[in-house]
Amino acid sequence: MKRVHLISGLIISLFTGLHLFNHMGSVFGAENHIELMDKLRLVYRNFIVETILLAAVLSQIVSGINLFFFKKNLVKGFYEKLQIWTGLYLAFFFLMHVGAVLIGRYFLELDTNFYFGAAGLNTFPLNLFFIPYYGLAILSFFGHIAAIHFQKKKNALFGLTVENQSRFILVIGIIVTIIIFYGLTNGFTTVEIPEAYKII
Ligand code: HEM
Repeated sequence: MKRVHLISGLIISLFTGLHLFNHMGSVFGAENHIELMDKLRLVYRNFIVETILLAAVLSQIVSGINLFFFKKNLVKGFYEKLQIWTGLYLAFFFLMHVGAVLIGRYFLELDTNFYFGAAGLNTFPLNLFFIPYYGLAILSFFGHIAAIHFQKKKNALFGLTVENQSRFILVIGIIVTIIIFYGLTNGFTTVEIPEAYKII
């Protein structure tokens, strides 16, 4: 179960790195975000890569939930707790998020681009749900990596202790979250959402 979780986690992390980089591109405007997504889709929006990615997401959820129930009474210390709770949130987020993207694409027949991601964040009162929903997802992604790093790496790096390296990963997560929210809300103002996306 642990090996399945590790391999699917590495595949998802590769995609998520590109995906979050794409969202950070929104600080230069919606057009920039869409242009970059069109390029990245050449890599992941094809039958082979997307099948591998969706299989990895499914394996991650199933193995993660199993590991959560196995470990939940055994964990002690901040990073062990961080690992299982961020993992549980990511399992919930993956189900909702990938489900929403597939429904958007196949049932609502929308292009699941910048406006699909930004719609909930820029519409009151939906944003009361979407701000913590997306914020916790990005923070959980970095939190999960920071927790794994803390338990696996034993050496100091660039003069940083292992604990400080993990703290550094958490700080990067906070910065990435702020940059993405800034971009997807047009600098913390509002993005005009096209009519087709208001269905969400
Ligand atoms: C502000 C945060 C986020 C927003 C607005 C967002 C938005 C989107 C959008 C619009 C798509 C569709 C992409 C496309 O059609 O090419 C997508 C797909 C996806 N996202 Fe996110 N995302 C966010 C964060 C995350 C995070 C943190 C993860 C993982 C930890 C994640 C994992 C995925 C996955 C696995 C897909 C499916 C890819 C596919 O099969 O096409 N997303 N997201």
